[in-house]
Amino acid sequence: MKKLGAGAEKILLSEEQIKKRVAELGKQITEDYKNCEDEIIIVSMLRGAMLFTADLVREIKLPLKIDFMTAASYGAQTVSSEVRIIKDLDENIHGKNVLIVEDIIDTGKTLRKIVDILKTREPKSVKICTLLDKPERREVEVAVDYTGFKIPDEFVVGYGLDFNQENRNLPAIHIVGE
Ligand code: IMP
Ligand code: MG
Repeated sequence: MKKLGAGAEKILLSEEQIKKRVAELGKQITEDYKNCEDEIIIVSMLRGAMLFTADLVREIKLPLKIDFMTAASYGAQTVSSEVRIIKDLDENIHGKNVLIVEDIIDTGKTLRKIVDILKTREPKSVKICTLLDKPERREVEVAVDYTGFKIPDEFVVGYGLDFNQENRNLPAIHIVGE
């Protein structure tokens, strides 16, 4: 049987580094939202953000609801790449404070589209929290409110992130091909 993490032996971010940073993000989000009157809805982007979301929400010491959304992009390598919603939210976000939780921002196309779609539903606010950001790869502008780590232009797996749906269950974040 193939070994877990084969072909991605090099660790970019350790379990300890991730845990520490997630706690910091949770603390900052708690501080920023503590006086808000309206409901907070965490919009977790499946599947990559599932582990990050599970850890982050336990560091946010405020009442909130958690919902999930799945987006898929077609022709990701082309300028005309299209982002579609495969699984939409169950919650009505009208008048609510939406915090989108994402695993990684690469070109920015996915989140740009998701933010545009969610804004048409007239939430009170929309913010973005991403665990990872590859700023060198950005093609479209997205306003990111909370970033765990800025990383170089490398393909990474683990802690929810996959390569061909594998290696999401690695506890640390590894570089593919090293
Ligand atoms: P964007 O629309 O180009 O910003 O794409 C973001 C999506 O691409 C993320 O939600 C991931 O699913 C995927 N992605 C981008 N870079 C990586 C990576 O290094 N590892 C795993 N998935 C990635
Ligand atoms: Mg994703």
